[in-house]
Amino acid sequence: MSAHATPTPMTSHRVTGLSGIADVPGDKSISHRSLILGAMAVGETRVTGLLEGEDVLDTAKAMRAFGAEITREQDGTWVVHGVGVGGFAEPDQVIDCGNSGTGVRLIMGAMATSPITAAFTGDASLNSRPMARVTDPLALFGAQSFGRSGGRLPMTIVGAADPVPVRYTTPVPSAQVKSAVLLAGLNAPGQTVVIEREATRDHSERMLAGFGAEITSEDTNEGRVITLTGQPELRPQTIAVPRDPSSAAFPVCAALITEGSDVLVPGIGLNPTRSGLFTTLREMGADLTYENERLEGGEPVADLRARFSPDLKGIEVPPHRAASMIDEYPVLSAVAAFADGPTHMPGVKELRVKESDRIDAMATGLRACGITVDEGEDWWTVHGLGHGNVPGGATCAARLDHRIAMSFMVLGMATQNPVSVDDGSPIATSFPIFEPLMASLGADLRHASAS
Ligand code: S3P
Repeated sequence: MSAHATPTPMTSHRVTGLSGIADVPGDKSISHRSLILGAMAVGETRVTGLLEGEDVLDTAKAMRAFGAEITREQDGTWVVHGVGVGGFAEPDQVIDCGNSGTGVRLIMGAMATSPITAAFTGDASLNSRPMARVTDPLALFGAQSFGRSGGRLPMTIVGAADPVPVRYTTPVPSAQVKSAVLLAGLNAPGQTVVIEREATRDHSERMLAGFGAEITSEDTNEGRVITLTGQPELRPQTIAVPRDPSSAAFPVCAALITEGSDVLVPGIGLNPTRSGLFTTLREMGADLTYENERLEGGEPVADLRARFSPDLKGIEVPPHRAASMIDEYPVLSAVAAFADGPTHMPGVKELRVKESDRIDAMATGLRACGITVDEGEDWWTVHGLGHGNVPGGATCAARLDHRIAMSFMVLGMATQNPVSVDDGSPIATSFPIFEPLMASLGADLRHASAS
């Protein structure tokens, strides 16, 4: 998000009967990748349904700085004229990726095997996040990086003039790391192999295949082995971006916890590497159904129907599911506050290095709202009080994190007293229409602090 955005305190008041259709924006992960791969193809890629949030707009700006021509037509179609694999120009400005870890890590990967130098920065949140997880494998290709202590932005990457292909096992379950290595592998000769012990979102693999790269994925004893043949000519594509399951999570969860609600969220991407939250909610007893299941642009899609669910139960969320719902734990923790009994969420160390330390951010705010939360380095437990019993009544810190801000707004829709966040402006990074969309369903969100 823009480093200069004015903090916008927001308050969510209790509501009942959320209803209607929630048309959530395009998938953030797929939007970033459409622009980056479009920029690396030769010719014109057309993208509909692109998420026009700050994170993705920053990636569009960055791709222009590397030489791609990117325009938006009046009907909302984005058109990318790519420069081809190995065709990036050297940017003459520092690349500002705002709040976006996906943006900066994927772009670093994409440029790291070209003989150019680029400097990257971001907002206070992004500049505090670890980049060594990406620069370590990029060094194996021959790229150099010069950043701040702890491998943090601002950082300059000197791309490899003579890149070599790499075989790399990701030390953390991260689609951003995997994707950075694959994008770097595009301009290296021979085969680049990424091995991930736990499968993470596979949009890069699907899209690389769609753009004509030779790429295979195989599940083995070692984990998922992804093999990419370097230096393909990527063919431009026509891409319809499915709607974002991570954004759908907010109206879905709001409907489950507010009395009398019935909300339809159409056209949601249900790629199994992304849909863990919905499985978890159903295990908790949520009245959540998939309607009109279909395939769109190679991705499974369905309309989600969420209705008020008064008898949610706390559960044990299996750690192997973490990667498929990693961005959804904050809003799950809000729902868990209204369930009966504890919801235990193990295997989630990665939550500590997102746009904020999401365990600490949610636990601190939930406690201020009257909920007991226990936590360790890689787990947390929310002790639900049951429907109608959550006090609320606190102002919570959003910590420059869109998902933290939206999760507390959802919480406040069903607490006894309103819940506030000190700053709702980060919501624009991923879900710029959150407020009007939630208001159209019947949410009562106000721009005033409720201290
Ligand atoms: C993303 C991967 C995830 C996720 C992020 C988007 C992606 O991050 O949290 O919001 O598009 O690849 P990690 O790969 O670091 O887990």
